[in-house]
Parts: sequence; C-alpha cells; structure tokens
Amino acid sequence: MYLPSIKQSIQPSLLTAKAKQFLQGSIAKLFAEDSQRFETFSLERCNLFLDYSKQNIDADTLKHLLAWAEDLQLEQTIKDMFAGKKINHTENRAVLHSILRAPAEQQQQVLPADLCAEIESANLKMQSLCKRLHRGEYMGATGLAITDVIAIGIGGSYYGAKVSQEALKPFHQQLVKVHYLSNIDGSAIAEKIASLNPQTTLVLVISKTFSTQETLLNAKSAKSWLQSNLPGYDISEHFIAVSSNVDKALAFGIKNENILPMWDWVGGRFSLWSAVGLPLAIAIGYENFQQLRAGAYDIDKHLQTAKLSENMPVLMALLGIWNSCFLGHQSLAILPYEHSLRAFPGYLQQVDMESNGKRVDHLGNEIELATAPIVFGQEGTNGQHAFMQLMHQSKQIIPADFIVSLTSGSDYHHHHTLLIANCFAQSEALMVGKSLESAKQELVMQGLNSQDVERLAPHKVMPGNSPSNTLTFNHLTPRVLGAVLALYEHKVFVQGAMWQLNSFDQWGVELGKQLGNSILAVMGGEDNDALSASTKGLITKYLAKRA
Ligand code: F6P
Repeated sequence: MYLPSIKQSIQPSLLTAKAKQFLQGSIAKLFAEDSQRFETFSLERCNLFLDYSKQNIDADTLKHLLAWAEDLQLEQTIKDMFAGKKINHTENRAVLHSILRAPAEQQQQVLPADLCAEIESANLKMQSLCKRLHRGEYMGATGLAITDVIAIGIGGSYYGAKVSQEALKPFHQQLVKVHYLSNIDGSAIAEKIASLNPQTTLVLVISKTFSTQETLLNAKSAKSWLQSNLPGYDISEHFIAVSSNVDKALAFGIKNENILPMWDWVGGRFSLWSAVGLPLAIAIGYENFQQLRAGAYDIDKHLQTAKLSENMPVLMALLGIWNSCFLGHQSLAILPYEHSLRAFPGYLQQVDMESNGKRVDHLGNEIELATAPIVFGQEGTNGQHAFMQLMHQSKQIIPADFIVSLTSGSDYHHHHTLLIANCFAQSEALMVGKSLESAKQELVMQGLNSQDVERLAPHKVMPGNSPSNTLTFNHLTPRVLGAVLALYEHKVFVQGAMWQLNSFDQWGVELGKQLGNSILAVMGGEDNDALSASTKGLITKYLAKRA
C-alpha cells in the first residue's frame, strides 16, 4: 500500500514571515529594483512562454518555495507518479493518464504487456472509427452514412473533449458534426436531438463508471429517441460506449465490439488522452488528436527533466501556493484572451477544484494551509465588462492567469491587436493601480474644482498590486493545446504534492449523489425524516406544481 509519509519543512514558517513585506510592498517597485526582471521571471518551453514577472515575489522568496519543494522530495513524487506507484492511495490506484500520450516503448517500461496491448487496440479502434466516419463508411440502421455524433458524458467524460474541440475549430474535418450532451436538464437533450436525424446519428456513451445518473438518463432517452424513430431496426450500431464498466455497458445493450476501454488508473478529469477523447478525435481527425497527445507529452518530459527552478508546471504551482497560502489570495481568475479558449476556465474548475478542493492530508489530518483556490473566469475582453471592476477596486486581490495567442486566429488582425492590447493593459493595470494622488491630478486636469476633486478622487483609486501570469503561444495548434492542458494538469498535481494531499480521488461528490437519490425517493412518495424542513418544504412546493 503506497502511503506517503508527511514530510516537514521550515520553509512555510519562513514564507509566512516573508509574506508581510510583500503585502505592504509593491510589485511595480520590484521592476524598479531589477531592470532584468522580465527576463529573469519568464520561461519559454514546449511552445509556451510564461511571464510571471508580475507576480508579487522576489528571487529570494522563490528560492524558499523551491527549497520547500526539495524538503518534500517533490522530484521523487513526480517519479512515483510516472512509475505507476499507487499514489491515489485512498482508491488504491496508480495515476497514469500521462502514459496514454507516451510512446509505446515507454508504456512497455511501466505497464504489463496485456495493458499495453489494450491501449494499442483502443487506439486502433479510435483510428478506424474516425476513418470510417470520415469516409462516410459508417452506416446507420437504415443504410445511411452517419453525419452526426452525439457524445453523452459529464465531468471528465465531457469537459476535455468539448473544450478542446471548441479550441481547435480550424482543425475540424467537415464530414461529421460532433455534439455534446452533459446536463440532465431535459431541455439540453431536447435542443440537441431536435436538429438531428436519428437515421444518421451515432451516440457515444462516455462514462468511466457507467453509473453516473445524468449520463445514464441521457443515454436512455437517446436510446428511446432512436427506437421510436427507427421501429423494427437494429439500432446497436448507433451506440458506442467508452467505459471501464463493461458489464453495465453490455447490460445497456451496447455490443462488446462497440465498447472502448477506460482504466481505473486514469482519473476522470485526466481522461481526455484515452478513448474519452474519441469525440474530439472524430471532430479533428485522429492525426490531430495524436498531435494533442504529443504536446502533452512534451510537458510530461519537461516536468520530469527540468530542474525545479526552470520547470514551468512547478513554478506555476509554487507561485499559486505563494498567492493563496501566504499572501492570502484564495481565488484564481483564468482569463483567456482567445475566443477559442472561452470554455477553458470551466474545464479548469474541475481539474483544479475537484483535485485539490480538499482539507485533509495523506494521513487524514487537517491541512493548516489553504488548499485549492476558487477558480473562475471567462474570455477576455468580456471579463472586463463583468468582474474586472471587482478585481481592480475591491478589497480582495485576485491573482489571474492571462492566456493569449500572439497571432490572430482570424483575418481580422486589427481585432486581434485590440484584444492583445486589452490583455496586456489589464495585467498592467491590476499591477500598478491608480494612487489617490494620480486620481486627484487626473480630476484637476479635467477641470474639476477642488471640492469635487476631493469628493471624487477616493472613488477612482485602484490599489493595484494584483499579481498575474501571462501565458502566451504563437498559434493554438493541437500540439500547443496539448501542452497547455498538461501544463495545468501538472500544476495541479504539483500543488497537491506540496499540500501533501491526494489530488486524484473525489469523495466530496458522493454525498450530493446519495441525497439526490433520497430526494428522488421522497418525490416518489417515500418518507424521510432525515431531510431538513427546508428541503421537505421545497419538495412539497415542487410536487404541488408538478401535480
Ligand atoms: O464529478 C465527479 C465525477 O466522478 C468526475 O470525477 C467524473 O469525471 C464524472 O463524475 C463522470 O464520471 P463517469 O465518467 O464515471 O460518468
């Protein structure tokens, strides 16, 4: 049984002491003290450029963070994960999603031959499915070629593929349209199937457990939609499953040869690299899906080989911990100034908050430090008309990750120039802010009388000193996207290692599911005194309306 010991370090107490000087200091001053700050606090690797010079930190503090990582033997933990140690110790599972994007010879060093064969056969199945669909050779029950695929899944069985598909629009093949259905709300499926022809629709049921309520109900409704529209036809070719629960997939009526595997050593939120990525592979083509894997593999190698002080996921992880645990900034804004990455903040909410939104360490003891930040965000420049007011003038400091492509994804180059200018302006404004003095000067310049200047100036002050990273790349290709996804996966993994918690289970989602079933039973007429008066009152209200 792999149960890591809890390692001690003096660094957190030193970092706590150092934090005070930074909370009273100024990031802008750090630039004045070091003309090379931009060069020193930036890093280029794997087609990505990370500028972390607007973070509220100096070289000495970074050294303490790195020393802390050494004390916790971070490099050994990284080795353990890639070696297939069962670091997900509460589920007694290895964490090997990365092996799915490694070359076959590397897989053979870590996995037994039978699993390597399973991976190979799953890849071949994905490849042949893509080919058949793209050649119009995948026929539905009535002999018409499939034109639409609807991928039913939620959480990790949905987000990665959907976000990546949206991000890689220029790489879409035009023959087959890929749709996603995740929420249980009936209007979601109604909206989806309204535009589809059952004769030419292929349904992918993607669920590691094949027990997720939302996915099963959506799959059942899709099945009855097909059955009612194709009476008397064998609709089994209209269903493909991706699951580790083969028995349940077979019981649902999916043919064995139409079931692609998932393995327990691939966590749901890290499963895009497996056959869970099938809808994406269909949308962009298997070769581009392989490029996505290659980009992630670039980061895997970087994580395992770069020294910690030049290791992009490690630096992002440590800077995030410095902000949340020591400077007390416990949110993180993900701000893609890239329309195609508009769904990326939502995807990262699961990767980050479902991994590290925990409070006990490996031994079950409460962790003193803050853990995962509240992750939110939306595409720029929209965020500037939503929450940036709070980021500029509230009492809370919210660190941000700006993500931007240096070349335009469209022919509207002037639009792109404006987008970039806004992106850089926001990180600058968050850092420098506006003092009372300059607010007053501005108002005087506008010709206001001294009384109005005194009255209005405090309302125009922005404290600044709000830290950010800016992550740039030249062009969003499958390989670059793969690197960005893996960068954040490993940032989260490293943060979990620093908090000495298990980033790979998600027991916190169980209670809601259990109570959901209890409430369904009450809605069906059962009694349940354990429920609060509030919930019982709400159920009564709902039932009265439904009646
Ligand atoms: O959100 C909880 C969770 O278990 C995720 O970890 C997982 O990605 C999602 O639900 C879907 O689970 P499944 O793939 O088993 O349907």
